[in-house]
Amino acid sequence: MKLGCCYYPEHWPEEVWAEDARRMADMGLSLVRIGEFAWSRIEQHPGQYEWGWLDRAINTLASTGLKIILGTPTATPPKWLVDTMPDIVALDEQGRPRGFGSRRHYCFSHAGYRAECRRIVAALAQRYGHHPAIVMWQTDNEYGCHDTVLSFSDAAANGFREWLAARYSTVEALNTAWGNVFWSMEYRAFAEVDPPHLTVTEANPAHWLDYRRFASDQVANFNREQVEILRKLSPDKNITHNFMGFFTEFDHHDVGRDIDVATWDSYPLGFLEQFWFSSEEKRAYLRQGHPDIAAFHHDLYRGCSNGRWGVMEQQPGPVNWARFNPAPLPGMVALWTLEACAHGAEFSSYFRWRQAPFAQEQMHAGLLRPDSTEAEAAPEVRAAAAALTDIGPQEMAQAQAALVFSYEAAWTVGIQPQGQSFRYLELVFECYSALRARGLDVDIVAPDADLSAYHMVVVPTLPIIPEGFVERLAGLTCPVLLGPRSGSKTASFCIPDGLAPGEIRQLLPITVTRVESLPGGVAEAADGWAVTRWREDVASDLAPELSDAAGRGVLYHNGNVRYLAIWPDRALLRLMIERMADEAGLPLIDLPEGIRVRRSASHAFTFNYAAEPVFAAHLGETLPAASWHVAPL
Ligand code: GAL
Repeated sequence: MKLGCCYYPEHWPEEVWAEDARRMADMGLSLVRIGEFAWSRIEQHPGQYEWGWLDRAINTLASTGLKIILGTPTATPPKWLVDTMPDIVALDEQGRPRGFGSRRHYCFSHAGYRAECRRIVAALAQRYGHHPAIVMWQTDNEYGCHDTVLSFSDAAANGFREWLAARYSTVEALNTAWGNVFWSMEYRAFAEVDPPHLTVTEANPAHWLDYRRFASDQVANFNREQVEILRKLSPDKNITHNFMGFFTEFDHHDVGRDIDVATWDSYPLGFLEQFWFSSEEKRAYLRQGHPDIAAFHHDLYRGCSNGRWGVMEQQPGPVNWARFNPAPLPGMVALWTLEACAHGAEFSSYFRWRQAPFAQEQMHAGLLRPDSTEAEAAPEVRAAAAALTDIGPQEMAQAQAALVFSYEAAWTVGIQPQGQSFRYLELVFECYSALRARGLDVDIVAPDADLSAYHMVVVPTLPIIPEGFVERLAGLTCPVLLGPRSGSKTASFCIPDGLAPGEIRQLLPITVTRVESLPGGVAEAADGWAVTRWREDVASDLAPELSDAAGRGVLYHNGNVRYLAIWPDRALLRLMIERMADEAGLPLIDLPEGIRVRRSASHAFTFNYAAEPVFAAHLGETLPAASWHVAPL
């Protein structure tokens, strides 16, 4: 695995570039990502390209042997462009324009902006498409960051109407699919349909789901336009996009299909602080991040583009954007780097080379401080680089377990949670964490992935069952677990004929007759586990495999398929994984809190995410806080 960093030559005097490049190489870095926000320097005035500085920056970095990932600058349209076409900015859900002065202030649907993006991408690709030092293009930067997938502009509204016309052909079909007879919501023409915002109370969930599908398609189309230009003008280079953590606003599997290498931006401490983790977990992992945060995304994004993936931005110290921004424990930057290697990353690149003394991210750590002295992460990068050289390149082995991940499922549950603590990402993460806590290697895969090589398949929930999915599950012989709400909606967000779980009934004869959601603090204890958050009443001739204390069935089992009718707590997840592993003949490891393992084809990696030394029985060794252990298999 290679190491790299994110560098902004336009932020620093030209005199320091050569020395920076030399120091990067000296630290063990061989890749550098540049350019993704540099539009105002590439084209200070409309149509006047200023390539001189970028030519010199690229050549200076290249002359030290560094390979370059060049970003297209479309996340930051410059002021002159916004002033020429003021309506390129997105409108938020309240209908307010998202102003100039930061980044991502554009609407994916704006045809004029799309044309400007094609122009600047083509200009860059013409200039650098065959440069020997450039190994990869990055399209834009973090699609959707700062809540920018959905826009409620005129361009988006018109795009949505066209999208609906293509999907439904007639407005009558749309009215029927959505159930618009309810509350007199029927339309007479596609032109009458608006985006689903600013309604008095909630809009029709079918309306929202289609708006989300449309918005997701717009992101994929926007990206594809850049990819097509780059493929034509720079045919030998890889293309990536840097995805984010815990982010489901567009279908990353769709974008992933168009690029060569999926990358993501790994900020484990910021994510721990920003997401649903308990206060105990936030305390215990304050400076390490939850042991599954980085791994979860590694395994998710590996499944987004045919197995080729990397980390484009790795947190090197405190970030600036969470409510609280602690420093990593000594050792964590190296540990995160090795965890990426264990999951098969092609590279991991630190964000950023040098902390900027100006503008929005001046409080964000880099590998160097603003005065160019080495920051705390620098020696860890050297240690990681040395370890990576020893370990050598890693091939991935077949993972034992598949976890099925669906962006549409995330939208469906988010649009109609029914209980506010039913959170899609949290449910998937809990399943993932439970598998990993027992030492299993996991692939997080799209619903259309080939599942036939796995020993265990977990579908945390899949409300809308994609075509052919049930048939593919029926062809499996390994244990399969389907979580609550699976099969509970049709593609147009209605309850299926014959009730939930719809088509899942072909796999096991059950009917969900009622669902209830429970507020926080309610935990109806059963045999070592409890019913929390969500419960379904199930009618079936099958005897339940597990029932709660009141005798109500919670887990149903038919052949190799199980259906779970409640939100699972950790104890129940553990129990179900033990049963399935037993049936599949999979050995489990009882890992202590904070310890995680990952096997490649050639090595077994063990990581201690705890803030104290932990005895890892499977190694017969005590691992220091924030440390890793690697052994050939
Ligand atoms: C990422 C972004 C970078 C930088 C970084 C700070 O979301 O891609 O440009 O802002 O966060 O942590």
